[in-house]
Amino acid sequence: MHFSTFATVVVVAATASAQTLSGQYDCAPAGAYTLCQNLWGESSGVGNQNSTLISTSGNTVSWRTQWQWQNNPNNVKSYANLVSNSAKGVQLSAVKSAPTAWQWEYESQSSGIRADVSYDIWLGTAPSGDPASRASSYEIMIWLSGLGGIQPVGSKILSGVSVAGHTWDLWKGPNANWQVLSFVSSTGDITDFNVDLKDFFNYLTQSQGVAASQYVQAIQTGTEPFTGSASLFTKAYSVAINH
Ligand SMILES: *[C@@H]1O[C@H](CO)[C@@H](O)[C@H](O)[C@H]1NC(C)=O
Repeated sequence: MHFSTFATVVVVAATASAQTLSGQYDCAPAGAYTLCQNLWGESSGVGNQNSTLISTSGNTVSWRTQWQWQNNPNNVKSYANLVSNSAKGVQLSAVKSAPTAWQWEYESQSSGIRADVSYDIWLGTAPSGDPASRASSYEIMIWLSGLGGIQPVGSKILSGVSVAGHTWDLWKGPNANWQVLSFVSSTGDITDFNVDLKDFFNYLTQSQGVAASQYVQAIQTGTEPFTGSASLFTKAYSVAINH
């Protein structure tokens, strides 16, 4: 009796939400977010990947990205990501708080994978603009994991920077028409991340010369695989901007 009740609930939930994206630029609604494949670098490798929305509940979402890629070990193959539909369009000076939580794990991985697990936050002078576009002034990455010796854009300008209760190496460099600043965890994988992104915004405006008039144009969350194979499971993720 209990078992059959439980099974019914599981089947209904799975029917309502399970959707696997596999096309190069496929996207699908995911509650307060949009889940996108974005296999922008797939031509530099041989392989495939897919992302599956598992569940949404309020502002919290769960999904899985599975990938396998070979060749060109220094080239990013993709950035499968979840982007918030509402945490955007706010000037840094107007952000009161930007709480985020991300619990994730590799359910499986081949030996020696080269991949990051990261936020990609886009800033610009206009309230809105597509990521990686003419409207982008800054790309702020937060690497909760970087395996296999991969490196962000640019060069390491600082080590041991304390922001939001964690310690980071800070990388900086240009990409197209925007600047990239990447916070890379100094302490290995952070699989249970729970911070206020405002701490990063404050650091950027106070110590890195980013104008407080910049707008948050997009907050993306996902993974950049280079080579290997893995299944990356996000048990729970949320982000919001209070202003
Ligand atoms: C998803 O991708 C993984 C890894 O590339 C592959 O093994 C799996 O068969 C794919 N699943 C679907 C439903 O396409």
